[in-house]
Amino acid sequence: MSRTTISDLAKKKKRGEKWAMLTCYEQVTASVFEDAQIPVLLVGDSAGNNFLGEENTIPVTVDELIPLARAVVRGNSTALVVADFPFGSYESSVTHALETGVRFFKEAKVQAVKLEGGQRIVPQIQTLIAAGIPVMGHLGLTPQSVHALGGFKVQGRGEDAARIKEDARALQDAGVFAIVLELVPAELASEISKELSIPIIGIGAGAGTDAQVLVWTDLMGLTKNPPKFARAYANLRSSMKEAVEAWKLDVENSTFPAEDETFH
Ligand code: KIV
Repeated sequence: MSRTTISDLAKKKKRGEKWAMLTCYEQVTASVFEDAQIPVLLVGDSAGNNFLGEENTIPVTVDELIPLARAVVRGNSTALVVADFPFGSYESSVTHALETGVRFFKEAKVQAVKLEGGQRIVPQIQTLIAAGIPVMGHLGLTPQSVHALGGFKVQGRGEDAARIKEDARALQDAGVFAIVLELVPAELASEISKELSIPIIGIGAGAGTDAQVLVWTDLMGLTKNPPKFARAYANLRSSMKEAVEAWKLDVENSTFPAEDETFH
């Protein structure tokens, strides 16, 4: 099976077919997600708090994300792999944004990139697309702006809805192939999904979007304090703890390794 393309996603939108996207930060989970046929993987800057031990996404650098993105591309041959532009890697100029895009394409071999922001980053988006780099947008709660937004709060309530709608239209006009809408009221996300011709991917945005994305560690029950909008489909945290404790005990009791796990 070949990799999902941005045209496949456009066709899904036309057919009203929903799809799933997951974050991914290394090759083992990337290969599990290939087995599960997840069509799109995001090497999110959420690697900051879910992989690199940072408090949030802000300190993550391009140099840190590139090896993770490369591992995901190597570990999965069927998903469209999207790399997040971390904070500080695109805001200052179109030249900086293009340099970042070129690095992700050449060094990690991803097939698309994602940038947080609305109308203010349209020049960067247009420059990337003109260079042949497909761009996914990200509106609503944009975690790189958490301090400016005053915390992890629902965005787009009341009059603020118009701003998010305008940003979504501006991104579509600039040529993005999809938009992530994070932590916005379900009604607003539904309206934008109906109005726009490109796929809208929701996270904490209700059930009316064209696609859904989750941070994989939330989905698997690995995150200690998961957000309210995430649902855990497994409890890997306790399964892993039990397995490690059982092995530790076997080592301490000399029951690991057994005879059939031993060479003579
Ligand atoms: O970095 C990330 O994981 C994201 C998703 C939450 C969409 O941007």
